[in-house]
Amino acid sequence: MVTKTLFGKTVNGKSVYKYTISSSELEVSILSFGATIQSIIVKNPTPVDVVLGYDDVLSYQTQDGYLGATCGRNSNRIENAKFTLNGITYNLAVNDGKKHNLHGGNVGFSHRVWLEEEVGENFIILSLLSKHLEEGFPANLNVKVKFSLDGENLSIEYFGLSDGDTVFNPTNHSYFNLDGHDTHTGHSNLLNIYSNYLTETNEELIPTGVLVNVNGTPLDFTSFKAISKDINSSYYLIENMHGYDGNYCLSSDGKLSLCARAYSQKTGVLMSVYTDRPGVQLYTGYFLTERKGKNGATYVPNSSFCLETQVYPNAVNNPNFEGAFIKANEPFYSKTVYGFAVTKDIL
Ligand code: BGC
Repeated sequence: MVTKTLFGKTVNGKSVYKYTISSSELEVSILSFGATIQSIIVKNPTPVDVVLGYDDVLSYQTQDGYLGATCGRNSNRIENAKFTLNGITYNLAVNDGKKHNLHGGNVGFSHRVWLEEEVGENFIILSLLSKHLEEGFPANLNVKVKFSLDGENLSIEYFGLSDGDTVFNPTNHSYFNLDGHDTHTGHSNLLNIYSNYLTETNEELIPTGVLVNVNGTPLDFTSFKAISKDINSSYYLIENMHGYDGNYCLSSDGKLSLCARAYSQKTGVLMSVYTDRPGVQLYTGYFLTERKGKNGATYVPNSSFCLETQVYPNAVNNPNFEGAFIKANEPFYSKTVYGFAVTKDIL
């Protein structure tokens, strides 16, 4: 079932709608601002909201954290905010420090009002047109995102079609805390990532091109461990990333595959993430400054985590990293699923 309510208006007077999709296991709210996941409530046995969010449009419009948002055209960083495609160099909006492009630029998909394309029994589809040279990216790009609920699974499907070769690398930027969004204890959640390699980054979080074998290092999540366990290690990459803020390489080969699981020993919520993308960014919220969240919550740095499915960061500037570009008139499709079970037994 889907219900639609007016969530509020942007400072420019545009209406923003909230779509609440329910199954017997979950209740998920999506906003037309930023195609944003505003809440994910795992209903049983005791309802718990496992994502951070706000309860007004202004907070979403002015936020720097991308809470729950769909990021695009390109998620994560593009070094020096430029890339070359078909012999032309494109200069992008600089919005990460004084040099780089992050999550699509100053007004990326995360900060736009999306159109309602279709509402079904258990899904909604939102769309937008990203115009040629918006934030510096070439070609007109039509984007659709479908959010659907099937029992305990929330699927996010991305569709894109452009009239010229361009970049399209969307993600969802939800911050999870499976203990409950307002508890500050998300780093006690256990995490397991199905990956042996991380794209090494420099201090500006730009990949060096080297893939680091994580086995036996503080980056290793090949079996469940608390996010907090090694987060204060003096390992050089943990220091560069201020905790975890890096891309784990996946071997999904374009097929929807399990890439990560997270578990709360407090609520018993077990989240499973499936994707067809080649990478997933684990970001543990170092830059998320203290702020007011929804329902009177306060959010503090280093207390939640994101698992952002994507192509490797800065792939547009690295010929060894796949999937950076899409071709004119060739439909793009990608899918990520976040599943939420409640269980006492994760082994
Ligand atoms: C990036 C962080 C960045 C954050 C912005 C994450 O995807 O990896 O470095 O600060 O988004 O909220």
